[in-house]
Amino acid sequence: MAKLRVGLGVTGGIAAYKAVEVMRSLQKAGCEVRVAMTRHATEFVQPLTFRALSDAEVIVDDYDPENSDPIAHINFSQNIDLLLIVPATANIIAKFANGVADDFLTSTYLASTAPVLIAPAMNTTMWEQPATRRNIARLKADGVKFVEPVAGELACKTVGTGKLEDVENIVRQAMWLLSEPGAIATGFRGGRGENHPVGETPTPLLRKEGSLDDLSSERFLITVGGTREAIDPVRFISNHSSGKMGFAMAEAAAARGAEVTVVAGVTAVEPSKHINVVRAISASEMHKAVSERLRDATVFVGAAAVADYAPANVADAKIKKDGRETMMLELKKTPDILAEVAANRHDGLIVVGFAAETNNVIDYARSKLEKKKLDIVVANDVSKPGAGFNADTNIISILTADSADDFSIMPKREAADRVCDAIKRFRGEHGK
Ligand SMILES: Cc1cc2nc3c(=O)[nH]c(=O)nc-3n(C[C@H](O)[C@H](O)[C@H](O)COP(=O)(O)O)c2cc1C
Repeated sequence: MAKLRVGLGVTGGIAAYKAVEVMRSLQKAGCEVRVAMTRHATEFVQPLTFRALSDAEVIVDDYDPENSDPIAHINFSQNIDLLLIVPATANIIAKFANGVADDFLTSTYLASTAPVLIAPAMNTTMWEQPATRRNIARLKADGVKFVEPVAGELACKTVGTGKLEDVENIVRQAMWLLSEPGAIATGFRGGRGENHPVGETPTPLLRKEGSLDDLSSERFLITVGGTREAIDPVRFISNHSSGKMGFAMAEAAAARGAEVTVVAGVTAVEPSKHINVVRAISASEMHKAVSERLRDATVFVGAAAVADYAPANVADAKIKKDGRETMMLELKKTPDILAEVAANRHDGLIVVGFAAETNNVIDYARSKLEKKKLDIVVANDVSKPGAGFNADTNIISILTADSADDFSIMPKREAADRVCDAIKRFRGEHGK
């Protein structure tokens, strides 16, 4: 069997060193990797590092008299099954989008018909610039795929979206693309299988569970964060929900092509600006915001920690101590948004709930699935280290009426992708 051939383009960003790990992982997965670097990328990582680890020439400048191949950009571009750019600067994205071919990597992009996967990394402001958004939209329309950057602390010490996605996720998405039947067939951005030696078919190495746009026909409505129930004008009852898991769900669904609307209560983090967020702070505001938007949704994800009870009467003025040692607060039940959505669902709506528990997690989650008539429940034990409120990781189990899958600890963004896989599978199996 011939090896799958990946052209790895490395550009001049601070995350360039991560391209070394990407190359190693692709090699471990059985790929042959050839590296092309921009001149600026060599300021961050030496070509020698890639040359030593790939045992092949690293091309930076096709005018370099030292190059063994005088028309390297043509030969390189015609002999790859995937062009993967890690990290991609705002600059290379702009050049690809506009057909600029002023160095080896940009000429390779134009001369290749292989699928292209781009993993951008940059400062949040650069990522959110209208120019960058335009360039990305244009490349997507041209058939280029993206592994969207994630939110986190960036090299410039700011927090926001622009951090390179985890190496493992980039490699997984690259392998998905390589295992797409169309990727090895002839056709623009559809691969160049004809360049494999006659009679040899590259082996798809991973089972493909979903492509990068596999949720493009879905419209997600996601509740996120905790609610805040007023006691008086200065006090409230709330919980520890940070919103990280719900926003991760929003990012994952959007990255896979879904239209996403988030109804967010109180959150400790902000989503990236391209996610449409409606704020609804109390359980009753969230209930109203969901009811108004539900009709347009095809998937409802209840990731918010909605208060089960709220003060029965909210005092108009700050409640005084008045010498009292104890104080009674009467609470009344809030609307059960998730149960109501499931009970009144329109045709085709998939309803997903989250169950954050501290004991008997699977039993409680299964009973929530059955009682509330949900399609999927994502359960997690919030008392475990590495899971639950405010953590960047989670340990989840995904339950449906006839399945239960346990996952080990992983970043919340990756856990969100596993939930998206389950939603995709549910849609396929139930055809709803
Ligand atoms: C220290 C440093 C870090 C940089 N990090 C990034 C980055 O993460 N993302 C980005 O788009 N540009 C970054 N830049 C700017 C690019 O290096 C610059 O736009 C350059 O022209 C990119 O060239 P290339 O796309 O040909 O590699 C950085 C510049 C410097 C000096």
